[in-house]
Amino acid sequence: MEIVVLRLGHRPERDKRITTHVGLVGRALGAKGMLLASNDKGIERSIREVTRNWGGDFFVKTGVNWREEVTKWKQGGGKVCHLTMYGENILDVIGELRESAEKIMVVVGAEKVPYEVFEAADWNIAVGNQPHSEIAALALFLDYLQQGKELKAKFADAKLEIVPQRRGKEMKVSDTEL
Ligand SMILES: C[S@@+](CC[C@H](N)C(=O)[O-])C[C@H]1O[C@@H](n2cnc3c(N)ncnc32)[C@H](O)[C@@H]1O
Repeated sequence: MEIVVLRLGHRPERDKRITTHVGLVGRALGAKGMLLASNDKGIERSIREVTRNWGGDFFVKTGVNWREEVTKWKQGGGKVCHLTMYGENILDVIGELRESAEKIMVVVGAEKVPYEVFEAADWNIAVGNQPHSEIAALALFLDYLQQGKELKAKFADAKLEIVPQRRGKEMKVSDTEL
């Protein structure tokens, strides 16, 4: 399954940390990349740095026009899932989504999301119908979608790799030029 995150409404002066975390969660939990409808290069740099050390090929593309990206995605056979507390409960639709979508664009907002997004989405999905956070909503959505398999993923070409421990910390460092 190919999953891409589309982050809308990023405000460079106040959302840097949250948007970075949206990207890090996407990367760690099985998405292929993040499209950012803002031209904040700092976000791109910090997520690239994580990927450089921790492996995989997660991409970040900033300054995208979200309407064009959604249109292109749909023309390429992809489906769009907008995460919103107003949507259908994830438990009621996740099975249908898993069966019918091979390519999924997950849309998360920051401030008020334009109504056009609700209309363009194939699914408007609520991770519970209470307001919370785009980071939590994305993490839970990715986990329900992939049924936990993403938690065992290996990242190719990692310079840093954790050796899981019951207690303490162990890390393999495979490149001295960090
Ligand atoms: C802090 S919320 C802001 C929501 C905003 N007040 C609105 O009316 O769209 C930011 C984002 O978190 C996500 N989010 C928050 N609660 C959610 C929920 N219960 N289910 C799914 N997504 C949620 C949505 O993607 C939302 O755009």
